[in-house]
Amino acid sequence: MKTLLVALGKRSYPIYIGSGLLSRPELFKKHIKSRQVIVITNTTIAPIYLDTVLKNLDDYVIEYLVLPDGEQYKTLDSVTQIFDKLLACKFSRNATLIALGGGVIGDMGGFAAACYQRGIAFLQIPTTLLAQVDSSVGGKTGVNHPLGKNMIGAFYQPQCVIADADVLDTLDERQLSAGLAEVIKYGLIRDAGFFNWLEQNIDLLLARDKSALAYAIEHSCKNKAEIVAEDETETGVRATLNLGHTFGHAIETGVGYGEYLHGEAVAIGTCLAADLSRRHAWLTDVDVERIIALFKHSRLPVVPPAQLDAGRFLELMAVDKKNIDGKIRLILLKKIGLATLPVDVDRERLELTLKTYGRK
Ligand code: NAD
Ligand code: GLY
Repeated sequence: MKTLLVALGKRSYPIYIGSGLLSRPELFKKHIKSRQVIVITNTTIAPIYLDTVLKNLDDYVIEYLVLPDGEQYKTLDSVTQIFDKLLACKFSRNATLIALGGGVIGDMGGFAAACYQRGIAFLQIPTTLLAQVDSSVGGKTGVNHPLGKNMIGAFYQPQCVIADADVLDTLDERQLSAGLAEVIKYGLIRDAGFFNWLEQNIDLLLARDKSALAYAIEHSCKNKAEIVAEDETETGVRATLNLGHTFGHAIETGVGYGEYLHGEAVAIGTCLAADLSRRHAWLTDVDVERIIALFKHSRLPVVPPAQLDAGRFLELMAVDKKNIDGKIRLILLKKIGLATLPVDVDRERLELTLKTYGRK
């Protein structure tokens, strides 16, 4: 097992990465300081992993809640169901919440933990590649709103992250690829060597080679932990983690939550951001081709949905947390391995990208 630290002073916590971690009660117990524990999961994950997790917690007052599965359920209604359960069980302020699932469960579980009685402890047990390399680390929690993705939320750090690579065995191919989109992101924004490694090892990752996956998870978490330690609440460098996300969120909201996987929307969004970076003469044609090729090779989509024309994209992109005074701001690439901080976009170039990139 590897242990990384998210260094945030009093709120520092470990990320455990390895095999068989779901069956190691001591890892859980070390971070549970109460008798009352609730596990939040969904209908897909519960039949596969809930019992394994519950077995670690025989000697606690343990409750669980199984929510419906899907991005379309990442809502305040689902979070209210968590509050209802906690209140019905008379759980106190020292209770602990365990979020067992992908990014949707992790984001909602963390948000419920942040709000219940003004904050209870929570553990992240990420079960998708995307959640293991990104969403479980760093304390962004929240839900979607019909008018905008992740628009309601809080920064709230977990007690620990337990990333058991074995659970990825049951993940379907499409979900694995979606996770790779966020892995590739780290290479693009700050780690050109990792991007090169990914180009060379993408087939091993797609074949779920254990050591390649372990390397990719650890390397991604290390990058994320460093960024979060430097800028927990996104006043600076943390915004670079949003490369491709403004376009991506517009796709998710515009087409309907759940239609595109988050990682798929991010892959398309990153290609749009790369095209726009080329229009600033920061990336070369060859850079953009390498980026698109790596996403394609990862079995990810690289062109925007036809039903979102440039005008609709611009409308949707106006709802984004990086915008200031209603002005669209984006993360772009100076080169492979170096992202900009949010830049006020040149409207003409942005429209050119939206009208031409991937359009017939
Ligand atoms: P997800 O949580 O919807 O999980 C994807 C699918 O895989 C679901 O159907 C889930 O039930 C299933 N699943 C999960 N683990 C499984 C396993 N081990 N075996 C079989 N099936 C399994 O999606 P996701 O890609 O994990 O997360 C996407 C969400 O994360 C989005 O809402 C996105 O906004 C959010 N996100 C948050 C952050 C953050 O910093 N908080 C970062 C990136 C993404
Ligand atoms: N996934 C973006 C962030 O954690 O900041």
